[in-house]
This record gives sequence, structure tokens and C-alpha cells, in this order.
Amino acid sequence: MNFHLFLLSSAFVAVSGQLDKVAKEAGLLYFGTAVDNPSLNNQNYLRIARDPAEFGSLTPANGQKWSNTQASQGRFTYGSGDAIANIARQTGQQLRCHTLVWYNQLPGWVSSVYSRDQMQQIITAHIQNVAGHYKGRCYAWDVVNEAMEDDGRYRNNPMYRAMGVDYITHSFKVAQQTDPAAKLYYNDFNIERCCNAKINATIAMIRTVKTAGAPVHGIGMQGHSRVGMSPSKREMKETMARFSELVDEVAFTEVDIRHTKLPIGAAEREQQGKDYMEVVGACLEMPKCVGITVWDFTDQYSWIPQQYPGEGEACLWDRNYNKKPAYHSIVGLLQSAASSGLRTSATPAPAAAVAVTAA
Ligand code: G3I
Repeated sequence: MNFHLFLLSSAFVAVSGQLDKVAKEAGLLYFGTAVDNPSLNNQNYLRIARDPAEFGSLTPANGQKWSNTQASQGRFTYGSGDAIANIARQTGQQLRCHTLVWYNQLPGWVSSVYSRDQMQQIITAHIQNVAGHYKGRCYAWDVVNEAMEDDGRYRNNPMYRAMGVDYITHSFKVAQQTDPAAKLYYNDFNIERCCNAKINATIAMIRTVKTAGAPVHGIGMQGHSRVGMSPSKREMKETMARFSELVDEVAFTEVDIRHTKLPIGAAEREQQGKDYMEVVGACLEMPKCVGITVWDFTDQYSWIPQQYPGEGEACLWDRNYNKKPAYHSIVGLLQSAASSGLRTSATPAPAAAVAVTAA
């Protein structure tokens, strides 16, 4: 069955196969998941998270953020991030590192710094220490996260107030000096559906910082969306085509597709599968799209219900670790793409070099 026929016909048949294994067969670099620390004592969770055939890449959901790595100035703590990085080291899974400079989960002492020089020094020290600690272990770093507003303005965060757009340029430069092997990403949400004000502003921002000498290798589209309201494959491909003119690679970095009304029935479950397939299909059909990361894989640990009460069930496994139709849809689509040779050659994998240099 060819790729397009699969989309139309057999989307919800249970299939055998595992996500990363079939993603690689289809020519992607990885299929990954975010992992947060509270789930690490749950054996049902770990059995799946640690399976490299299911997830070829892990992203610490919180462990590497500023509030976890430098809550007090000059005191660096890596326990939470290391817990996940060490799993990846043991299993041979790739690590996507997240995130160095973000306005959220930012300790108060950073927000109270206003001079340009002070902020520049603080950003330098943070990146040198954190990216230095993980040097050689990250396939990619989300260097700057969510710097733009939906209306296209720069987000008025403490770094921007102190340094203007230079904080972005500076962060990428320091990240490259610190870990030259890592792919350096700009990562944001609501930049999937072409082409809104935020996408246009993101493109302008990437141009600005690259012109100023920042090494931006990738753009991460987070991919948080709602069942039945998700961007179409065509819309996402259009966005990726525009991003592909600017950077070496693009990726879906935090995908989850939530139901806005609970409980749900079979029709909603089926629609969720279709929506996930649009994302995976878009990535498969764009040569610079290297992989897909889901923002955790089970509803048991999804961030959605806390942030959006009454919404949820956004993940590929339910809270009892049953695979949903969306899981089978994705595996089937990837298998179909692999057998039809949709992507004729896999994207080159500099990550191999990263894995062997792990400290
Ligand atoms: O660590 C404290 C703990 O000490 C306390 O007992 C507990 C009480 O609620 O809160 C814990 O902190 C929570 C933290 O996650 C760690 O679990 C915060 O309340 C909670 O707000 C925080 O949420 C995280 C969120 O980022 C913060 O914005 C989510 O887990 C995390 O999945 C989410 O991830 C972000 C990406 O980094 C960037 N893109 C959007 C995405 C979803 O918001």
C-alpha cells in the first residue's frame, strides 16, 4: 500500500512496530519523548521510556531549565537533568537538551537584573556551565525558547529588557563556543500553521540574529495543539519550507494534541489519530525535518490538565499505558512511508559522533 493510500484507508488498524524503529526505517533521525523527573520511579513508565525501539531520543521536560540548574546565582545543580541524561547514556538513546534561555521557570534573581553588561555576563555563565556540563551529550540544544509573542513582537522578558535582541545572538554564540557539536535550535509554539504573524516575525528574528553572527542550526516547532483544530499537513509543510531556507534542519519538538472536552468517544479518538498523522506526514515529506518528539507519551504525566483544567488525554498512551489509536496510526504511517521509500535517504546523523564522545 502506498503512503497516500494509507492516509485515506487504514489509519486505525492496530499494527506491530515501534515508533523510533519505524521512524528510522522511514528515514527520520528519531522519534522521541520528553521525560519528567516525577515519572522516574514508575516501572510501567520506565519500561517504555527506556526502550530505544520506541523512543530514540529523550528530552528532559524540566530538569535542564534555569530554575533547576541555577536557582541561586553561581550554584549549579544537575541532578534532575542528569537523571534523564543518564538513562539516555545507558540505553544509547539520543538526548535533545532543553532549554538554556527562557523567560519561564526563570529564577527571580535573573529577572531582577537590568544592566546590559550584567545580563550578558549572567547568560554567558549560565550557558558555559550548563551546556558545558552536558558537552558532547546533546544532539541538539534548545538554546532560546519562546522569544516571540503571537502578535509578532519580541517577548518583553528580562533578557530582552536588558539586551534587546542581542540576548538571542549572544546566547547562540556562547552555546556554540561551549558545545560545538550540538545542533543549536530556536524553539517556539504556535509556529506550525503557515503563516501567522509569529511565524513571519520568527523568520525575521532568525535572519537578524544570523546576520549578527549567531549560529542557528535548527528551528523547533513545538506542536502543541487541539484535536480537530490542528494545523493541516499542507500548512505545516509550507511553514517548514520557509524555515528550511534559513536553517539546516527543523523538528517537531513537543507534540501533544489534546481534547478540549472530556470525556471523549471513538470519533474524537479517531480524529486525534488523524491530527497526529498530519504532523508525522508533514515531517516525513519535508527533507529537512529530522524528527518528532512528543511532550511525554502517557496521559498520566501530561502537563495539560494542570495548565488547561478540563482538557487533556493528549498523549499516545492513556494513563493506564494502553496505546491509543493515534499510536497505531503513526506506526502505520511510518511503516507505509518506509516501504514506499518516501524519504529516499536518511538525514545525516552527526549525533553518532556525539554519542561516542559522551563523558
Ligand atoms: O518543582 C515544583 C515542585 O517542587 C512543587 O511541589 C510542584 C507543585 O505544583 O510544582 C513543581 O513545579 C512544576 C514544574 O513543572 C515541575 O514539575 C510547576 O508547578 C509546573 O508549572 C511546571 O510545568 C512545566 C511547564 O513547562 C512550565 O511552564 C511542565 O512540567 C513542562 O512540561 C512544561 O514544558 C513546556 C516546555 O518547557 C516549553 N514549551 C511549553 C511546554 C508546556 O508548557
